[in-house]
Amino acid sequence: MNGIATLDRVYRADALIADDVDAYLDRHRRKTMLRFITCGSVDDGKSTLIGRLLYDSRMIFEDQLETLEADSRRVGTQGGEIDFALLVDGLAAEREQGITIDVAYRFFSTQRRKFIVADTPGHEQYTRNMITGASTADLAVILVDARKGVLTQTRRHSYLAHLIGIERLVLAVNKMDLIGYDQARYDAIVADYAAFAAGIGIAAFTPMPISGFRGDNVSHRSDNMPWYDGLTLMEHLETVEVGVDADQAKPLRMPVQWVNRPDLDFRGFSGLIASGTVKPGDAIRVLPGGRTSTVSRITTLGGDLDEAVAGQSVTLSLADEIDCSRGSVIAAADAPPQTADQFEATIVWMDDEPLIVGRSYWLKLATQTVSASVREPKYQLNVNTMEHLAARTLELNAIGVAELQTDRPIVFEPYAQDRTSPNRELGGFILIDRITNATVAAGMLHFSLRRAQNVHWQPTSIGRADHAGLKNQTPRVLWFTGLSGAGKSTIANEVEKRLNLMNRHTFLLDGDNVRHGLNRDLGFTEADRIENIRRVGEVAKLMADAGLIVLTAFISPFRAEREMVRAMLQADGRGGEFIEIFVDTSLAVAEARDVKGLYRKARAGELANFTGIDSPYEPPERPEIVVNTSDMTPAEAAEFIVRQIMPLK
Ligand code: ADX
Repeated sequence: MNGIATLDRVYRADALIADDVDAYLDRHRRKTMLRFITCGSVDDGKSTLIGRLLYDSRMIFEDQLETLEADSRRVGTQGGEIDFALLVDGLAAEREQGITIDVAYRFFSTQRRKFIVADTPGHEQYTRNMITGASTADLAVILVDARKGVLTQTRRHSYLAHLIGIERLVLAVNKMDLIGYDQARYDAIVADYAAFAAGIGIAAFTPMPISGFRGDNVSHRSDNMPWYDGLTLMEHLETVEVGVDADQAKPLRMPVQWVNRPDLDFRGFSGLIASGTVKPGDAIRVLPGGRTSTVSRITTLGGDLDEAVAGQSVTLSLADEIDCSRGSVIAAADAPPQTADQFEATIVWMDDEPLIVGRSYWLKLATQTVSASVREPKYQLNVNTMEHLAARTLELNAIGVAELQTDRPIVFEPYAQDRTSPNRELGGFILIDRITNATVAAGMLHFSLRRAQNVHWQPTSIGRADHAGLKNQTPRVLWFTGLSGAGKSTIANEVEKRLNLMNRHTFLLDGDNVRHGLNRDLGFTEADRIENIRRVGEVAKLMADAGLIVLTAFISPFRAEREMVRAMLQADGRGGEFIEIFVDTSLAVAEARDVKGLYRKARAGELANFTGIDSPYEPPERPEIVVNTSDMTPAEAAEFIVRQIMPLK
């Protein structure tokens, strides 16, 4: 899903392959590839198991083996025997902490097949890594510690694997050596898991009793468990069927990564083909927009192709000059994907900070990046019982269903349209915090909301430029932000007076005034302030469209919402319209003024959520203009602002 993977460390076996990867791959080209993940909870023995698989497939080289033996004696947890986990838990810091973080991809190969395994740590807060690893996997090995049985984490990871659309599940009951290879205990765990799996719609899974540490049923059939007559894990991984053709059988979709225009004679659209096949002469449609053309040429680094298929990165040239840029999707002309801006989705929250309903996050889906906000969840899942629980937000590791809306239509497909072959590329998305840039959630689109489908954009004849032209000015939004009592309203008023004398057409939106009308239903909780700013941003945008110079005076305490308004006013070629003016007055000065007596009330505990007292103010990081009313009068500040903006006309 969207390449959030981090290839965090490459240790020496990988490096050796990397040295001569071409020769290596060539030799192994005819083998099929299986991508799988291992998941489970802390200490269930994943690293040991992966180390064992690598060891048994002879991917460990002599010098590494020596290091491993030395390390096992020094820091190993297995009393002098080889500790395979050390091979995988590459970093010293992690060894000392005793847990693995982040996702590591390991490549190995046997005589029959090539493998890429995503090693995803089981620590509670690393659901994120599990999702990252699972997003490209064909198979998941769910590890269970035989002593502990099926845990919450086992259920959560199984559910996520199922949601993501991994059809092939192995239930590896590990550490069988530690329960004396007890068949009854094993059967009980399998039965327990089977009941859970059936409840969430997992059609089938393959159970096996193993010991990663002793090697039982990993690559070698175990003499300790004669009662088990199934395959070893390695045999299963080598022979399980992988449906490589499912994506190719679907209609063409290629999200455009970039427009390749080295000179005037060539214009091509580069990207990875997510599904389908394409040939020169094929009729295509570019979404959004829907213009059609035909493919004139398929170019790759290795030369032109007669045909390209899902999984290949190519550059397509089209017969016509049509609008197509990063984020567009080139699709089969007669079977295009949908376009919408409101959806229902499953969301897996992965950040320490909970979801803030109404806040605008970046949403990335294939090569599209848009602003999106999530409504109050319909429900949250209890992963142990699959009950739907009421939820006002989603916290770390929560899985919920909610509606979301994007600021403009995106091209998408329902994630699980076809259960056996999910639309991962155009149905899966991630949410990113606008300020910290952290990936806070992953999600899967269910469907677009019908109410959105029935509302269309109505074109109007008199546009922004006409309105502005008639007023002979360039529309602006002068966004004043600062503490209550900083002087925003006073200065904005002074600026407006000056602009009026200069025959400018203006309008001042003031916090206290707007809260008497349009926003009188809103208070001062985080969610209400976010909604306050969203509405004011929309109104300011409409007024700017009407050709006005808009002044807004709101505390607007959160960076994320100010950035959201900025982005909104930058879309559609409006660059530079938003001017953030920070009225920088210290809390002490604002409180000493206390024009409305509100600071006194807040200090006395009579007014909750007061900005600067018990609700935060996040100052702008790169405001266009800063004025400080401790050393400027409001008139001076206004003069200063007008001087800064007037060269802009
Ligand atoms: S914002 O945070 O949502 O941007 P806005 O600028 O609309 O706030 O309103 C702030 C004005 O509301 C303040 O100037 C003050 O007069 C009044 N007010 C009442 N309660 C509060 C509060 N808890 N925090 C801040 N301002 C408040």
